[in-house]
Amino acid sequence: MNLRDTLRINENGHLEIGGADTSRLAKEYGTPLYVLDVAYIQKVATAFRKTLTEKYGDGAVAFASKAFSTEAIYKLIFKLGLYSDSVSEGEIYTALKGGMPAERLVFHGNNKLPREMEFAVASDVGYIVIDAVDEPEILDKIAENAGKIQRVLVRLNPGVEAHTHQFVQTSREDGKFGFSIKNGDADEFIKKMYGYKNLKFVGIHCHIGSQIFDRNAFGLAIEVMTDYMKKLRDAYGITIEVLNLGGGFGVHYTEKDPLYTAEDYAGYVAFIAETLKKAIAAKKLAKPFLIIEPGRSLIAEAGITLYTVGAIKDIKGIKKYYAIDGGMFENPRYALYRSEYSAIVANKANEPFSETVTLTGKCCESGDMIAEGIPLQKAVRGDLVAVFSTGAYNYSMSMHYNSNLTPPVVMVKDGKADYAVKPESYEDLVRNQNIPDFI
Ligand SMILES: Cc1ncc(COP(=O)(O)O)c(C=O)c1O
Repeated sequence: MNLRDTLRINENGHLEIGGADTSRLAKEYGTPLYVLDVAYIQKVATAFRKTLTEKYGDGAVAFASKAFSTEAIYKLIFKLGLYSDSVSEGEIYTALKGGMPAERLVFHGNNKLPREMEFAVASDVGYIVIDAVDEPEILDKIAENAGKIQRVLVRLNPGVEAHTHQFVQTSREDGKFGFSIKNGDADEFIKKMYGYKNLKFVGIHCHIGSQIFDRNAFGLAIEVMTDYMKKLRDAYGITIEVLNLGGGFGVHYTEKDPLYTAEDYAGYVAFIAETLKKAIAAKKLAKPFLIIEPGRSLIAEAGITLYTVGAIKDIKGIKKYYAIDGGMFENPRYALYRSEYSAIVANKANEPFSETVTLTGKCCESGDMIAEGIPLQKAVRGDLVAVFSTGAYNYSMSMHYNSNLTPPVVMVKDGKADYAVKPESYEDLVRNQNIPDFI
């Protein structure tokens, strides 16, 4: 459990988030309900940004908005001085609607559609990260037609891969992202970047994985990327002005994961800053503008999802299911990649964990689970379950499977609550449907 000052068990024995009793939130907004603790985001985002500035200097923290893309979140992170990365026209559109200035946007994607690039260029997006062989040519024409010079980075595959608690330096060359440093693809590609009149090649990008706790993985990525910067300078006279090291900082989903505070994340960023400064000094490189792209670490633990317990199925000696009113349509991560979560019976939060339970959803799929075999309080139909650390890649991955509605998102702070995303209706669900007259 990632309990803290703004996520705690209150005097009534209820889980409270952002000063709001979860029983009150459930009553007022219904369940399933995504809830986001604004103070947590403010604290962690500020720790990232301040540490980067204080320990490194010129740079930016770009929230990886694939983790959670809504107007309110863009507004919040803009006010906190962050940039944002986007991987689609939809994310750019939402960011702009939320008040994020275009020049603070970094546009990624292994297959950006020409239409999306047109939109990005027309909107004056700060950086576009090239990740396809023919992308510069397409983008150059788009920029020319728009009468603009577009700043671009090139995404590299540094051959470092990190996930969860381990990292390895691999020679894996089969990923869909980035040009390989190792096999020479990157050299060939970057040399050509100077042949486009309407593109300004300014830097390089890598993203080594997700849910990374071992900071040495970033140390290794920095070594590889700065070695490569040195090679580009020495062999081709190329200066890298912008270095984007991606995201991937780990978060606490279950007791197996370390519990990081804002100060721990600050330490993480300080390590990156110091390691990079040392590397550029040792290799006598020009100091690049440093971008990092945290996604889940800024928002996962800010979020909980509230559910009402429905059917309870006890298969004696085998498995006990609590079926909740959500499921894979609002959190597909277990079904997708067996991600793990921890939970609590929010209206009985100070009772002991006496059961081992599988939280299953209401979808017509056996794999429709949120968490399997987790410790939980004894619950009955109507009790309120809160699943922790659901702020990232839950709402943004939601879908309408079984024609279920996407739950609303409520932001909370100092006891106040309001929608970031309002509830959908069945009218919304069928809004774009059509019955062809020839059927
Ligand atoms: C390019 C890039 N940057 C940042 C991120 C954010 O990763 P995380 O949410 O683990 O911080 C991702 C995640 O896939 C990514 O692909």
